[in-house]
Amino acid sequence: EFMNGISEFSVLESQIKDKLQLEQVIIVAGNSDEQTSVKEELGKACVQFLNTILTSNQTIAVTGGTSMAEVANQMKPLLHAPNCTFVPARGGLGEQVENQANTICSQMAKKANGNYRMLYVPDPLSEESYHSIIEEPAIKDILEMIHDARIVLHSIGDAFTMAKRRKASDEVLQKLKTGNAVSEAFGYYLDEQGELVYKVRTVGMQIEDLEHAQYVIAVAGGKSKAKAIQSYFKQGKSNVLITDEAAAKEMLKGN
Ligand code: F6P
Repeated sequence: EFMNGISEFSVLESQIKDKLQLEQVIIVAGNSDEQTSVKEELGKACVQFLNTILTSNQTIAVTGGTSMAEVANQMKPLLHAPNCTFVPARGGLGEQVENQANTICSQMAKKANGNYRMLYVPDPLSEESYHSIIEEPAIKDILEMIHDARIVLHSIGDAFTMAKRRKASDEVLQKLKTGNAVSEAFGYYLDEQGELVYKVRTVGMQIEDLEHAQYVIAVAGGKSKAKAIQSYFKQGKSNVLITDEAAAKEMLKGN
């Protein structure tokens, strides 16, 4: 539906677009906090959007989490975009295997008839291992692909939900509390103004790299993520948001 510009939510979409200063917003019905079918719709909408923008031989960097896992679930052969390569944007970030970026990008690639590359690094990394790992030729190679990705697909999470899911240390939790962290994306925890509170040290996509990408697409829905989505977009580094009705309405309430 959104492909010809007519959507049930076109008014809501343009309100969110203005509010968050985005190029494009796609909204699906419902609240993904409450219904898993809504998360499936987010996944479908993302795949449909990808189909409209992808061309051949592109690199797509993806993050982890359950929203991205659902995008992988909904992926279909990318008929107009042969020979695309999916790469994980960053390391595992403390997610369970099925929700890790490596797993997700291999599944996306299989379903899309594309290629994929893996990034095998533990995270968080110590300062010392960080510096030696980025000098490994195999790692260097994939880091370059990640850095140059034309399309980035990612999600956004609530800061404390993510910190707990990752079993962050008390020290990290304290930092997030003191810094009033609200959102998390790519391992970056941000406050209400979009300022950095804490960052997981690992290799891969850094928030500055997003400037090289042509499309940075965030997939995040559910009323519970409204504040996090607003916080993340204060950074202004993504240009497309695929969300649900409940998150969108909640964002407008919060003025
Ligand atoms: O941990 C990877 C990640 O993409 C985070 O950056 C993000 O906050 C989270 O997953 C979103 O997870 P979910 O889609 O399960 O809410």
